[in-house]
Amino acid sequence: MAERTLLVSKINNGTVIDHIPPGKSFKVLSILSIDSRISYTVTIAVHVLSKKGGYKDIIKIEDRFLQRDELDRISMVAPGATISIIKDYEIVEKFTVKIPDEIVGIVNCPNQNCISNSREPIKSRFVVKSQKPILIQCFYCQRPLTDLEIITNI
Ligand SMILES: Nc1ncnc2c1ncn2[C@@H]1O[C@H](COP(=O)(O)OP(=O)(O)OP(=O)(O)O)[C@@H](O)[C@H]1O
Ligand SMILES: [Mg+2]
Ligand SMILES: [Zn+2]
Repeated sequence: MAERTLLVSKINNGTVIDHIPPGKSFKVLSILSIDSRISYTVTIAVHVLSKKGGYKDIIKIEDRFLQRDELDRISMVAPGATISIIKDYEIVEKFTVKIPDEIVGIVNCPNQNCISNSREPIKSRFVVKSQKPILIQCFYCQRPLTDLEIITNI
């Protein structure tokens, strides 16, 4: 009988980002600066059926472990994504991304008159008002931002 399954190799060391809301993997790749210049292997699955129902995207990155600020960015564009850290082909750590209580230096305030957009060395700062659906508010000018605005200003 013809072989009806394809095997994508397991990764030896690296990171799996699973349960990404369908279609959001492109934004996650952009956050991680994964483009044609990379020199490590990345496997991407878009709009695949999830065992938990509905659809999801998955990204598997060899030989790369994510930094805190990268995880914080991902939490805002792909809430509910799970991170598995792989060492010697086994999961050594697994967790769900969590939106931080305060978002500092990650999202730009869309208000051009906001002090965080002046020449002063002031980092952008947002307070999280709601996690689901995500709603954040600028600490300096009180401008609220919802999910789509966050994605374009991250
Ligand atoms: N060595 C590996 N290489 C590549 N991907 C891996 C490896 N080990 C696990 N994964 C992937 O990491 C993710 C988490 O693995 P796990 O075995 O916990 O999945 P699961 O049982 O489907 O759990 P859940 O979907 O509830 O998070 C899955 O997407 C799985 O395919
Ligand atoms: Mg699963
Ligand atoms: Zn502001």
